[in-house]
Amino acid sequence: MKNGKRILMAIESSCDDTGVCIISEDREILSNLLSSQVAIHNKFGGVVPEIASRKHLEAINPMIDTALQEAGCGFSDIDAVASTIGPGLIGALLVGVSAAKAIAFTLGVPFIGVNHLKGHIYANYLIYKDLQPPFMVLLCSGGHTQLIYVQDHDHLIRVGNTLDDAAGEAFDKGARILDLGYPGGPLIQKVAKSGNPKAVNFPRALRERNNFDFSFSGLKTSLLYHMRKNPKDNLSDVAASYQEAIVDILVEKSFRAARKMGTKKVIFAGGVAANERLREKANQKATSWGYQIYFPPLEFCTDNAAMIASAAWHRFEQGDFDSLEITANPSLGI
Ligand code: KG4
Ligand code: ZN
Repeated sequence: MKNGKRILMAIESSCDDTGVCIISEDREILSNLLSSQVAIHNKFGGVVPEIASRKHLEAINPMIDTALQEAGCGFSDIDAVASTIGPGLIGALLVGVSAAKAIAFTLGVPFIGVNHLKGHIYANYLIYKDLQPPFMVLLCSGGHTQLIYVQDHDHLIRVGNTLDDAAGEAFDKGARILDLGYPGGPLIQKVAKSGNPKAVNFPRALRERNNFDFSFSGLKTSLLYHMRKNPKDNLSDVAASYQEAIVDILVEKSFRAARKMGTKKVIFAGGVAANERLREKANQKATSWGYQIYFPPLEFCTDNAAMIASAAWHRFEQGDFDSLEITANPSLGI
């Protein structure tokens, strides 16, 4: 408690970003730090789990100290500590979970273990303070592509899922085929900017009206064959067409799923929600259907600790805490 206001600290370490965030009443962000390992993993073309854990370990304690300083708090001001408990890389998750539990135990304050996927959804609550369920969520990140109907805070129904690759993975693998680097999403987006999205007709899978699942592995293979056959093809055109194929299907299925569940609110979450073309096409669709759409600000789309703090704040207010016996679960579902 500081100046009569409750204070919550949250840690994110599920993959290759270490995050520490301190928030107060009404989810006011007092400090939000992120240490990215992208430059380290870039040369391997993806995240190396062992390296990720070691880098989290090096980063976590200094980041906690800096976050407290920035927020103008001391440990004694903290009323609850949260961390991502899954899904993610086990070694990486354990760094954040252990740090958060140790602080909670030492201070004698509640610990809240947050589902990373819910964190992505709650990123929206950081800016849309009046947002209320029910709504449809498209959660599209590097590891997940799911359509989730949020009936209320405690009832989440998965309406669709990817049968193979996640949308972010499709961007990452596509970028590798095009020799652009990692992570693929922002790189493909950049190259695609000057390209023609209709230049190559890449496949859109599972397009039947009542199918809310996704499949991106055929698309990736089709890009590979296209490049083998046409190695000199214009890179911007290919990237724009590939991006278009991913975005088309994401937008189409999100709105259809919302209609099926009887809501006109569509929330976008996860790293791929940072994609400009996705935002553009979702906006067009929302206007033509008369639906409301919500995108988190760019910095809260990809992994960060503010979204974990936001999800934890809801549970903190409900008095919904976890025992210190709980541990990381790499395959935690929604
Ligand atoms: O949510 P996130 O940071 O991590 C996971 O929980 O997976 O998402 C990372 C994913 C990566 O696959 C990355 O390529 C993708 O999000 N991504 C994007 C963009 N920015 C990040 N995909 C498309 N367009 C972007 N601008
Ligand atoms: Zn994530």
